[in-house]
Amino acid sequence: MKIVTTPREVREITGHARKADARIGLVPTMGALHEGHASLIRLARERTGYVVASIFVNPTQFGPQEDLARYPRTFESDRRLLEDLGCDLLFHPSVSDVYSPADRTRISVKELSSVLCGATRIAHFQGVALIVAKLFNIVGPDEAYFGQKDAQQAVVIQRMSADLDFPVAIVLGPTVREADGLAMSSRNVYLDAPSRARAPVIYGALCAARERIEAGERNPAPICVMMTRSMRDGGIDVEYAAVVDGETLQALDRIGGIVLIAAAGGVGGTRLIDNIALKVSGTAVEETTLAFPAWSRYAR
Ligand code: PAJ
Repeated sequence: MKIVTTPREVREITGHARKADARIGLVPTMGALHEGHASLIRLARERTGYVVASIFVNPTQFGPQEDLARYPRTFESDRRLLEDLGCDLLFHPSVSDVYSPADRTRISVKELSSVLCGATRIAHFQGVALIVAKLFNIVGPDEAYFGQKDAQQAVVIQRMSADLDFPVAIVLGPTVREADGLAMSSRNVYLDAPSRARAPVIYGALCAARERIEAGERNPAPICVMMTRSMRDGGIDVEYAAVVDGETLQALDRIGGIVLIAAAGGVGGTRLIDNIALKVSGTAVEETTLAFPAWSRYAR
């Protein structure tokens, strides 16, 4: 596996891969890699001939009160994992390799960025859209892989990519969980023992919501009340519990079509998010991911 730090080196190397006719897959990450990230690298490995991973703790997506400085950084073990998974190129830039104080461009994906997590993390999705757009330009991937774990991020990126005509097919991988249901996250290392024990309550609330929908409930309001109550009773500091349209992320009057059940909350001071996406047609309910290839002219 090659490791490079500058966009110019990435362009040179991916240029060779492109000339050799390899399809290029990109997995953007912030490092502190776990099995969720690994599943995306494996997906990329199966689908493309040249796999690029990036590790970059992107400052523009952190709010001033957030955990940028203490975000876990585990470069050596990340490097070994990527090597074992057969990743071809690791892009590991410093902040000044990617950003300059003279930068003035921002990307805002309207409506999708201001709801759910965006209601409290004000500029978060603007920072995510900016770095992902830059990575798409630097790497020039044919496909890019993101996790359903960060459902709103996946929707924002698909919209941004379609709107700006990035010739990239976006592929989503399912959420990878611990045995007790907790969604894997780099931030789970912040949880002390009592918080770790409480954390699965979030997924429990999402599963209870899914059961209500499977049982025929089509009104989102009582489901949100139930989720909020069960998270609160389980010791979670609830930020939101919502059932929204999976494509617009806006509130629903009635549950149907592609639906996102999403929750966020604090557990002993650590903010955790999780979701379940469902396809609801008539009485049929099945789990899905929020992949919308029809939005892009470049999906395969
Ligand atoms: P990070 O949190 O490192 O996640 C990198 C990718 O791994 C994202 O697409 C995320 O959705 C996916 N992922 C994380 N946990 C997962 C899990 N348990 N199961 C499946 N996939 C999972 O998300 C980011 O970094 C950044 O915002 C980034 C897109 C890299 C832009 O800076």
